[in-house]
Amino acid sequence: MPLPNEFIEQVRDANEITSVISSYISLKRAGRDSVCLCPFHSEKTPSCHIYTDTQSFYCFGCGAGGDVINFIRLIEHLDYLESVKFLAQRANIPMPEDSFDKRAEAKQRMLEINRRAARFFRDILISEKGLPGRRYLQQRQLSGNTIRKYGLGYVPDSWDTLKKYMLSEGYTEQELLDAALLAKKDSHSYDKFRNRVMFPIIDRRGNIIGFGGRTLEPDAPAKYLNSDETLVFHKRNSLFSLNFAKNTKEKYLILCEGYMDVISLNQAGFDNAVATLGTAITPEQARLMRQYCEEVVISYDSDGAGQKATMKAINLLGEAGIEARVLQMSGAKDPDEYVKKYGADGFRLLLEKSGGAISFELKKLAVGLDMDAPEGKSSYLKKAVNLLAAINNKIDRMVYINDTAKLCGLSAGEIEKAVEEKRKILAYTARKNEAKELINPPKKPRDGFVPSSQLSPQEKAQRGIIAFMMHSPDLLPKIEKRITENDFSNEFCQKLYQGTARRIKNGISVDLSSLGDEFSAQEMGKITGIINENNLLPYQKERLEEYIRVLENHRDRYGGKKPSELSEEEMLKEMELIRKKIGG
Ligand code: CTP
Ligand code: MN
Repeated sequence: MPLPNEFIEQVRDANEITSVISSYISLKRAGRDSVCLCPFHSEKTPSCHIYTDTQSFYCFGCGAGGDVINFIRLIEHLDYLESVKFLAQRANIPMPEDSFDKRAEAKQRMLEINRRAARFFRDILISEKGLPGRRYLQQRQLSGNTIRKYGLGYVPDSWDTLKKYMLSEGYTEQELLDAALLAKKDSHSYDKFRNRVMFPIIDRRGNIIGFGGRTLEPDAPAKYLNSDETLVFHKRNSLFSLNFAKNTKEKYLILCEGYMDVISLNQAGFDNAVATLGTAITPEQARLMRQYCEEVVISYDSDGAGQKATMKAINLLGEAGIEARVLQMSGAKDPDEYVKKYGADGFRLLLEKSGGAISFELKKLAVGLDMDAPEGKSSYLKKAVNLLAAINNKIDRMVYINDTAKLCGLSAGEIEKAVEEKRKILAYTARKNEAKELINPPKKPRDGFVPSSQLSPQEKAQRGIIAFMMHSPDLLPKIEKRITENDFSNEFCQKLYQGTARRIKNGISVDLSSLGDEFSAQEMGKITGIINENNLLPYQKERLEEYIRVLENHRDRYGGKKPSELSEEEMLKEMELIRKKIGG
């Protein structure tokens, strides 16, 4: 059901884009506008621009863009209607009656089911039946306060404790299956979680989106069981305890492997701990953290698996523009055990001692090598030189070269020589690659995103004409006299031309917000790109004329055929013309 245009405008006007985006990411002012690290791809320097005038944003790195509604669509993973609703709620504007959205309702319903279930698990924990759970949590040294803070619960060893309760509360079997609280075998459904301590997983807004359950049985096949993905539960995009950590006063987050690590650390006063949900860290989670901090201390288990996962986390965090430090502990297998054994002060010392990613990597190179034997040392040095050469800051490089020298019992000068030699080779290769790219630019650098500098004159003209129409809708009759939608050889431009023309004829003002219901969140980025690249140039008659001519010329030559429909001969002719034009 489409929403009235005036309503969308009202919602958009009530949600100033800069203030909305700044509630997710820290912004830097740039004159009237702002820039930020793009939340939709990994980067270290800000290429996402927010324009006050046009109330739009655009990332020059990945092509994401749009109005404030599209921003919410992308960042909250909502569809168009849900995003409008989200912003309407934010601004306290009531939704028009008939515009309810099934999917958003289903999500609300699922969140309600999760809340009910969590309350039920908690009530069991404090009831008579909850004794095994209480004993277990006591043995794990969790206080009553901590148990309440995390809303922990317990579910007894039974096939249908939750099922019975929820059915009696009026929820259907299908709803419980959809919420991943029941599992199904041969048309028979039963409680997915049994004899487990239950950890509700809560998102940034305080919604219970899923559960982790820890078994009380020492030899159960799965120690932890997590909710399957549902309409509201996406493991890649969520972090356990971020609802607390996002309000920390610390300037860094502590990244752990397990729920219990995070909870124990919280109990010991570290409210900035988070954990992934039983999976390795994802780029989405790294970017999520980047929205709250610039530094993360990786605090994984001390076993081999934890150390291997640390390397992966260093890389992903680095790509998201986060400075990673690595906490290393001995005498305990994980933060939970450590903080219980050595106390909050002990763990704080580890945090203070935690070194940069480079120290960690350098140390790791020595694992498995006999550093007392010449062979061991030599193979260590070869690998270390590669790593050291990649450090761009000269002071940092010297510091680590000195460390390495000490470790191997060599003079720093010798190692420095080798490192600088290696850097020369690296610089040469980089220059060579750069030159190669200049001669032969990669066609589609990022997922179909083509920077406007690499567009063909044809495509530039198509995009330009559309921008003119949006800028001055009264030009439409003039444009329509000369060209038709068939002149838009680019499929997307054709669709956009049609959509824009249709709106103008219906008397709807054509801005970004009026297009959101027809175009996908990704397409909205493209449209913003089109508007942006044209806003940089003056909207003069001559420019429009030039664009129209480009399309007319093409049609005159080939009878309005799309490039894919050209014959071999026509194609060759076309290429010859382009070559002449660009002088290649
Ligand atoms: N995990 C999981 N499934 C498993 C084991 C672990 O999903 N079968 C996930 C859980 O999210 C858990 C995390 O991996 O929190 C860490 O696992 P592990 O280190 O094995 O657990 P601990 O945190 O040490 O758990 P505990 O202290 O309760 O033994
Ligand atoms: Mn543990």
